[in-house]
Amino acid sequence: MRSTQIQVQDHPSGVVGPEHFRQVEVDLPDPGPGQVLVRNTWTSVDPGLRLRLRRHAPAGYFTAFPLGQPMDGILTVGEVVASRAEGFAEGDTVWHSFGWRSHAIVDATADAMNGVGTLRVLDTRDTPPQWYLGPLGAMGLTAYSGLAVANALDGGERVWVSAAAGAVGALATQIAVQLGHRVIASAGTAAKVAWLREVGVEAAVDYRTEPIGEALARVAPDGIDVYFDNVGGDHLEAALDAMRMFGRVAMCGSVSDYESTPSGPSNLFLVTAKHLTLSGFRGSLHFDLLEEMQAKVGGWLREGKIHYQESVYDGLDQAPAALADMLAGLTVGKTLVRL
Ligand SMILES: NC(=O)c1ccc[n+]([C@@H]2O[C@H](COP(=O)([O-])OP(=O)(O)OC[C@H]3O[C@@H](n4cnc5c(N)ncnc54)[C@H](OP(=O)(O)O)[C@@H]3O)[C@@H](O)[C@H]2O)c1
Repeated sequence: MRSTQIQVQDHPSGVVGPEHFRQVEVDLPDPGPGQVLVRNTWTSVDPGLRLRLRRHAPAGYFTAFPLGQPMDGILTVGEVVASRAEGFAEGDTVWHSFGWRSHAIVDATADAMNGVGTLRVLDTRDTPPQWYLGPLGAMGLTAYSGLAVANALDGGERVWVSAAAGAVGALATQIAVQLGHRVIASAGTAAKVAWLREVGVEAAVDYRTEPIGEALARVAPDGIDVYFDNVGGDHLEAALDAMRMFGRVAMCGSVSDYESTPSGPSNLFLVTAKHLTLSGFRGSLHFDLLEEMQAKVGGWLREGKIHYQESVYDGLDQAPAALADMLAGLTVGKTLVRL
């Protein structure tokens, strides 16, 4: 059995591009006892991959990708082609963590990515399989658990979500709306802002046409209670300025500095002055919330209360370009590669 896979050829020092990767064919063995062979059909493209393309990934995070090796730890959906593992049969749709390749041998009992990447049969009777890489998978879990760690599942407050038309942001925004918050959303194009205005937010702003701090002061002059931070840098600084007393920040990511030198907020004393809580979190470490999230978000999706967008790239060879486009802000919703 031959499998096509993407490998890292070179660590990017600035903006990532297809030149940092290569596509190779490798031999796959037959599945052994307890293993399944999966033909991958959808694979995920995430900003966190850029952190793992550094020589050393941030401490505590998923590990850096070694050069010239398969890229393990990327969420993926596929179909079981052959199984020697109990509970998995030919034809099952599954998720696992061996993405950016056409086929994978997966050990059915091996825990992967804190659970979100452990081999699992998916119910696709009423659900498109790729939703399990988006709203019903790690993206939904990240959005939902971020609001949970910020103690914001009860509604009734003003919440700002940045990168709000992206995979996590679009879900955090709409979940917050469904929970009864007044939501401010920010994104980087007029089209994204227009889309956000249609999903029930109080205001949507374009950080590329107006300094984000000024935009926040204009649309939320009374301040914000909760900030769901996907961006870091100047956005986090603006949030600290805009925060009300006892505000909370869910620190989901800082995509503005994944490809450049980070610049921290210059106003950190406001955390003390306003008695703020800044909570870093990893969606994958809140696996216990998966079923609760799937029930709520799945219901809102089917009722048409949450809208899901995706940017689909066809063919494994397009995965590096998809990553570069996503980091440049050229994609909307969840960025995926269809194999
Ligand atoms: N904590 C966790 O467990 C966890 C899990 C998944 C993802 N994350 C984090 O969540 C964030 C969003 O991830 P995602 O998968 O949903 O990606 P995404 O939002 O679909 O794509 C990234 C987006 O970031 C925006 N962006 C890029 N550079 C920016 C800059 N300098 N300033 C402001 N915005 C910028 C772009 O949108 P614009 O057009 O709006 O600029 C881009 O589309 C990332 O920080 C990621 O690392 C965290």
